[in-house]
Amino acid sequence: MNTPHTTHHTLLKIGVLGAGSMGSGIVQIAATQKHQTVLVDLNEEALNKAAANLKNILARMVEKDKIDQATADVIMGRITFSKNIADFKDCDMVIEAIIENLEVKKKVFAEMESVVSHDCILASNTSSLSIASIASACKQAERVIGIHFFNPAPLMPLVEIIPAVQTSEATTTTSRALIDSWKKVTVLAKDTPGFIVNRVARPFYGEALKIYEEGVADFATIDWAMTEIGGFKMGPFTLMDYIGNDINYTVTESVFAAFYYDPRYKPSFTQKRHAEAGWFGRKTGRGYYNYAEGVEQPQPKKDEKIGKEICDRILVMLMNEAIDALFLNIASREDIDLAMTKGVNYPKGLLVWADEMGLANVLAKLEHLFAEYGEDRYRPSVLLRRMVRENKTFF
Ligand SMILES: NC(=O)c1ccc[n+]([C@@H]2O[C@H](COP(=O)([O-])OP(=O)(O)OC[C@H]3O[C@@H](n4cnc5c(N)ncnc54)[C@H](O)[C@@H]3O)[C@@H](O)[C@H]2O)c1
Repeated sequence: MNTPHTTHHTLLKIGVLGAGSMGSGIVQIAATQKHQTVLVDLNEEALNKAAANLKNILARMVEKDKIDQATADVIMGRITFSKNIADFKDCDMVIEAIIENLEVKKKVFAEMESVVSHDCILASNTSSLSIASIASACKQAERVIGIHFFNPAPLMPLVEIIPAVQTSEATTTTSRALIDSWKKVTVLAKDTPGFIVNRVARPFYGEALKIYEEGVADFATIDWAMTEIGGFKMGPFTLMDYIGNDINYTVTESVFAAFYYDPRYKPSFTQKRHAEAGWFGRKTGRGYYNYAEGVEQPQPKKDEKIGKEICDRILVMLMNEAIDALFLNIASREDIDLAMTKGVNYPKGLLVWADEMGLANVLAKLEHLFAEYGEDRYRPSVLLRRMVRENKTFF
């Protein structure tokens, strides 16, 4: 990319491949940020649906006086809809958001590279695939990078920027500056399974499910503990019902496999059975809770002592995961904390929270679990042990 382009982001033409929920959200952001955009999907119906959805969203923004009609028309006018990858030919960056399948992604990356100019950046919005493998499909692998938005893309501030081993410094710098110019919060993550958020957040679901399976408490009580005592916006079971147990289970399973079956990431039968039963959550009317009309929701047992135990157990597992991510240089301590507050709305960054709880306390709680269960799942991070030994804090 040449200099004028890097300093005047509005001049860039942006391509988006895949008109599903993520692709249409990304194109909305880019068009709102004054870019000419091309949205390509092989499926005509997906394109029509995306166009209709985008019109509706803009119409609602006009109704709410967030933008005027003229602006809505201009934004819509900046988007070209196409079924042909060749229409990416003048793009300065293309962001891919198609089906989560490595073989298919590699095929489209090779195809995209054959039509774009030699300085066009090719990015993937993948949640779980290795950027290095996707990049390997390209002759100029140094132009390939991960740019991971969260759902819904126009509303969630976080974007993870993931350079592969092959990615050039220039590709990373230009990509991050561009997404920053879209008023997003960017964090830099290593090309490892789950990047930052989908790795560090695993215990929020996994430990909650384990607590339930042990019969310590029911779904409603665990959700109550995490919201009322922990200060989280949503409890783990309510959140899994939102995300969908099918999707959340698949992510857990793929992170587990990608970490060479590290027992820390072991999926749960409870969630597997819910997914198998078709109890995906809100979208199917039933998940851990029953969303049918008129059904009374179960009430939590508000025992403060048990609530605090549940909350502390999930929290120290989350903190341990964040600390281990820092230990393994997945991201900086600032970015690890930003990722969890801006990507999944945690009330506090986990590292700053661990400082507040006292690192010696965090370690003691983990060691208690480790001794009690004798499971590798509870092993405290080496970095946590060192920090306690040296009497240090993260911030
Ligand atoms: N949904 C999320 O919460 C979320 C969050 C972050 C990242 N992601 C990632 O974003 C990507 C897209 O996810 P989504 O939820 O928007 O999917 P989706 O199923 O809503 O949309 C995918 C779109 O890609 C199109 N498509 C499939 N193969 C294609 C091809 N070869 N060429 C052109 N178009 C093709 C489909 O027609 C469909 O319209 C995935 O890699 C996913 O892992 C999803």
